[in-house]
Amino acid sequence: MRYVRLLVFVLVVLVIMAVPLALVLARSYFLSPTAQPVKAQPIQFPHQVHVQAIGLDCTYCHRNATTSAQATLPPLELCMQCHKIIPAQGRPELEKLVSAFEQNQPILWNKVHQLPDHTHFVHSVHLSFGFQCSTCHGDVGAMGKPGVKQVRDLRMGDCITCHQQNGARTDCSVCHY
Ligand code: HEC
Ligand code: HEC
Ligand code: HEC
Ligand code: HEC
Ligand code: HEC
Repeated sequence: MRYVRLLVFVLVVLVIMAVPLALVLARSYFLSPTAQPVKAQPIQFPHQVHVQAIGLDCTYCHRNATTSAQATLPPLELCMQCHKIIPAQGRPELEKLVSAFEQNQPILWNKVHQLPDHTHFVHSVHLSFGFQCSTCHGDVGAMGKPGVKQVRDLRMGDCITCHQQNGARTDCSVCHY
């Protein structure tokens, strides 16, 4: 009899615990990616300076966007083409850049946009159709520190709605392996 009561007690505790746990899980699953806070980056890279002030094209750094699935991030060598002649002393973000380059260490940027592995996205197809980067990423050129923020949902419902509006395929195999 004692064991039965103990068992009932444990079950009740588990059920009570399950509610907040389920809520936490549901929140991280259902919360739109656009509601997530800006991800911390190893170097606070200001797009604003490079795009608006210097006038670089997005594809100057994200070289593969128009030709491949991945847009890709630039290697440090590309940054250093300019930054080897820009004084870094007393500017922590630039000091991190220069010392990583000198020690031959890559910068491990945190991903802002990330689809699950079983999904398939191709940058080049969307760009040759005529969409701009800003269609999906917003005005990245105006984003300064601390970094890029996701501004469009880009989950399945969003992908499919736009595909339907533009006469693109919507069968599962287009986007899923
Ligand atoms: C001078 C190089 C440079 C230029 C020019 C540049 N970017 Fe970036 N971009 C970066 C770097 C470095 C990162 C990684 C740091 C970060 O996410 O804040 C990044 C990150 C991003 C991300 C987030 C990637 C992810 O993890 O999901 C997007 C989206 C992006 N850039 C879009 C753009 C767009 C759109 C433009 C043009 C308006 C542009 N970038 C111009 C260097 C550049
Ligand atoms: C139709 C929507 C769409 C357009 C247009 C678009 N992107 Fe993306 N971008 C995405 C999605 C979705 C992801 C996440 C892909 C993943 O996780 O596989 C992404 C990821 C990225 C990333 C990080 C991962 C990677 O692919 O290397 C960068 C950088 C990026 N985009 C830059 C750009 C730039 C620059 C342009 C314009 C030249 C652009 N994007 C146009 C939807 C778009
Ligand atoms: C075409 C030249 C050019 C390229 C390529 C370039 N930058 Fe810059 N960057 C600049 C200039 C110019 C400034 C502004 C410097 C100033 O304010 O004196 C700057 C500013 C910065 C700053 C802000 C420094 C501060 O203290 O506010 C950071 C961080 C930075 N760059 C990182 C990078 C990274 C990382 C890359 C490669 C992904 C990169 N830059 C590529 C020219 C460039
Ligand atoms: C802004 C509208 C828009 C958004 C958002 C969008 N797509 Fe697309 N997508 C298109 C259009 C239009 C095409 C067809 C392009 C063509 O046929 O030239 C396409 C084509 C594709 C293709 C290539 C299909 C083929 O036949 O090879 C894939 C894969 C794809 N999209 C995946 C995605 C995924 C995954 C997302 C969400 C993360 C997404 N798309 C978001 C408009 C969009
Ligand atoms: C236009 C692109 C696109 C098409 C078409 C599409 N999906 Fe998706 N799907 C996605 C993306 C992007 C995600 C990941 C983001 C999310 O969870 O919404 C996803 C997520 C999912 C998930 C959730 C998996 C998880 O991680 O929990 C399931 C299940 C799914 N898709 C099934 C389907 C089925 C079944 C079809 C065909 C009827 C389909 N999808 C068609 C883009 C697409």
